[in-house]
Amino acid sequence: MKTAVNDCRIIKLPKIPDPRGNLTFIEGQGHIPFAIARAYWIYDVPGGELRGGHAYREMAEFIVSLSGSFDVIVDDGSERKIFSLNRSYYGLYVPEMLWRHPENFSTNSLCLILASRAFSEDDYIRNYEQFKEIKAQQ
Ligand code: TYD
Repeated sequence: MKTAVNDCRIIKLPKIPDPRGNLTFIEGQGHIPFAIARAYWIYDVPGGELRGGHAYREMAEFIVSLSGSFDVIVDDGSERKIFSLNRSYYGLYVPEMLWRHPENFSTNSLCLILASRAFSEDDYIRNYEQFKEIKAQQ
């Protein structure tokens, strides 16, 4: 499938409000459109920082701002969209073959990423021009 920016979507997760502290959870299959193979998180990001852009050939991700806020810029080679994440009970689903980069991190933000695959450098496209070429051939 040729993915487009409009295939990305914000998914709201269950929230159990409690005066002792709210609770949100996510299950491997059911809440997001893929089985979770890996989780990683980005932390200690200096305020205002931006991380490198890339696309994944086959991997899908679900991105949650557990604390603080940041923006995710998603690009399909012809259209681009900004998603602002600032709540721990919703996240952004990004399917494969979309260029993305997070930016505008608030101080002390914590970004959790759930991924559909194990880490593989071969799955990365790190050059935007190459990404556009592959996308145009699809
Ligand atoms: P990378 O995804 O390239 O981050 P960014 O595009 O924001 O710079 O990851 C940075 C480094 O961490 C890179 O050398 C690969 C390594 N890494 C792993 O070893 N395992 C992982 O699960 C991830 C996400 C990255």
